[in-house]
Amino acid sequence: MQILDGKKVAAAVKNSIKDKTAALKASGQKTPHLAAILVGNDGPSETYVANKVKSCEEVGFTSTLVRFNNNVEENTLLQAITKLNDDIAIDGILVQLPLPGHISEQKVISLLHPDKDVDGFHPINVGKMVKGLPAFLPATPYGIILMLEHYNIDTKGKHAVVIGRSNIVGRPMSILLSRNTNPGNCTVTICHSHTHNLKELCMQADIIVAALGKPGFLTADMVKKDAVVIDVGITRVADNSKKNGYVLKGDVDFENVAPKCSYITPVPGGVGLMTIAALLMNTFNACYCKV
Ligand code: GUN
Repeated sequence: MQILDGKKVAAAVKNSIKDKTAALKASGQKTPHLAAILVGNDGPSETYVANKVKSCEEVGFTSTLVRFNNNVEENTLLQAITKLNDDIAIDGILVQLPLPGHISEQKVISLLHPDKDVDGFHPINVGKMVKGLPAFLPATPYGIILMLEHYNIDTKGKHAVVIGRSNIVGRPMSILLSRNTNPGNCTVTICHSHTHNLKELCMQADIIVAALGKPGFLTADMVKKDAVVIDVGITRVADNSKKNGYVLKGDVDFENVAPKCSYITPVPGGVGLMTIAALLMNTFNACYCKV
């Protein structure tokens, strides 16, 4: 069994971005600039956005964090997006999700300029992704693809089971794994809360991507020997013995599943770090490689 080391791969991706950015800046080109919008004070969202901003600094990008209270009016948020769309200094914009219930996620995402939509959530980018055209790919599935690529994992003709159908992870993951690319060319089954025979489907899988947000959901009896297991879950579970009061748990019962796998991602230290690396790739491309 080999651990897919997100820390190592993300560091390699970030170093490459850092070197390329430094060279381009030295030749007189502009500095990539990411604007992150955060609404409210959701704990995990605060952490994710702080990590995104910090990672921008690490690779030599500029970042701007735009914050709003939880009760901000939808129009105020839409106006802020329009301003960032029109600002030629800004290359990439992300709006951290989830948004408060009174704000339409769909309206917000659809207003982003597709050329600045470094999360790849705008319908135009989703459509391009589905058609296999150049587009910003959603950061988590893209990060997983970069990880599979780095470890040269053979995906061609394999049966991949994706558990979870969210717009952010499960659905785009299923599309990317089924594309005629490498990594890709999988036969994909996408499972969700209404799937009847989840265990049987998982047992047939060469690759499992667990992205449902239920700690320890994927147990050893659901996994075939030598499967590749990718754990996207990252749930805060209360633990009074910890200083911050919680531990991060993945969707996979790692201790019992890992011995059966050929490859597996840990939590933390797996997919989460690749997500940020992928976001930086998209921001680099938004600045230097207009699609
Ligand atoms: N919330 C959870 N994952 C993501 C992500 O990749 N991008 C944004 N904007 N919000 C998220």
